[in-house]
Amino acid sequence: MRGSLVWFSSDPFLTSSEKALEFIEDGLLVVRDGRIEAVGPYEELAESLPTGTTVVHHRDKLIAPGFVDPHVHYVQTRIIGAYGNQLLDWLRNSVYPEEARFASPEYARRYAALFCDQILRNGTTTALVNCATYPVSVDALFEETTRRGMRMAAGKVLMDRNARTDLLDPSPEQGYEESAELIRKWHGVGRSLYAITPRFAVACTDEMLRLAGQLWHDNPGTLVQTHLAENLDEVGQVRRLFPDRQDYVDVYEHSGLLGRRAVFAHAVHLDERSWGRLAATGSGIAHCPTSNLFLGSGLFSMSEAKATQRPVRTGLGTDVGGGTSLSLLQTMNEAYKVGELGGYPMDGTKLFYLATRGGADAMGLDGVVGSLAPGHEADFVVLDPSATQLLAVRTAESEDVHDLLFALAQLGDERAVAATYVNGRPAHERSPCLDPKPE
Ligand code: GUN
Ligand code: ZN
Repeated sequence: MRGSLVWFSSDPFLTSSEKALEFIEDGLLVVRDGRIEAVGPYEELAESLPTGTTVVHHRDKLIAPGFVDPHVHYVQTRIIGAYGNQLLDWLRNSVYPEEARFASPEYARRYAALFCDQILRNGTTTALVNCATYPVSVDALFEETTRRGMRMAAGKVLMDRNARTDLLDPSPEQGYEESAELIRKWHGVGRSLYAITPRFAVACTDEMLRLAGQLWHDNPGTLVQTHLAENLDEVGQVRRLFPDRQDYVDVYEHSGLLGRRAVFAHAVHLDERSWGRLAATGSGIAHCPTSNLFLGSGLFSMSEAKATQRPVRTGLGTDVGGGTSLSLLQTMNEAYKVGELGGYPMDGTKLFYLATRGGADAMGLDGVVGSLAPGHEADFVVLDPSATQLLAVRTAESEDVHDLLFALAQLGDERAVAATYVNGRPAHERSPCLDPKPE
């Protein structure tokens, strides 16, 4: 692939945007068998290519690592943007009725396919996905992502209280067993990874959480995903349900659920002790700005998350259906605004870092995806800085790549995604009817 190339050699929150960003204006990305073999200036690398190598030239486009979405619910795709109130009411009225439909394998297959189409249109190549309680909802997703060769992590939600009974695991033991069976079936098969998924402490008994921690301990290499301190009513309920625990983070830590490859979504209402435990254990978090604003959950503090004395591994999650877009470009836009409200501006480089290597790092997939450095899996997105008239006029005079990234983050959406590559092969190409007319 020939084009402008961007990726990150380090975390710009800890070094600086200038140091962390790798940018090659006319670059060559050499891909073989689904892996990145070499990357460098076109002039230097082109002559060493074996004769007969196909070079695809993405002229005037920017090639970046495929976006990584470390928190999304494919089973909520159809209820995105459902009107009505904050988290706990919204779950009861909009989410749970929809998730109940995923007991049907046909329904699950239809929305798994639609979800994959949608994330690929948006340049997302890896996600950490919540499915429904029913194992068939996990099978449907992994069947679809395996067919498309995608690096995907997902799991069935575990929940055994405080929701309609048809969504609950009949017992913690059965939730454990069904998850263990899904791990045997899917974890490490192709590019699939299993994520143990206790929904959140409100919907899990002590025993359910303990068994989730046990399952993780019994299956090293799997991920954990859950929700943490999203909404004040939720935090209050957790305090009442777990009176012996110090706080929400302690509830999960007590069950052995903190650590590398555990990803906590939201983290809006946390104190310093909790941030310290997330950092010390290597846990990841997913900042979900469109969801936090849509559900009125609160303002996430990036300055707390990335405090230099104890930074926490952080990515950007869409959290659809609580989030209002599957586009990580749109999510960067909202993350920037939330940052501004907290007096913590983020440049385009930091925003793109969060949506690529940051998310991969939170999921324990650093070195695997989220970068164009040699050895990484060849998942990438081709971005078009003149995808729309506004983007074109805004970026025409952009001399500086940091500004180009910032403009894409503010104005970009799926129209800015010219193509998405999975495993070195095109998995989505923008419809020609959306291509801007030449002037
Ligand atoms: N907390 C527990 N379940 C959910 C969910 O489905 N979405 C969001 N945003 N928060 C949750
Ligand atoms: Zn969520």
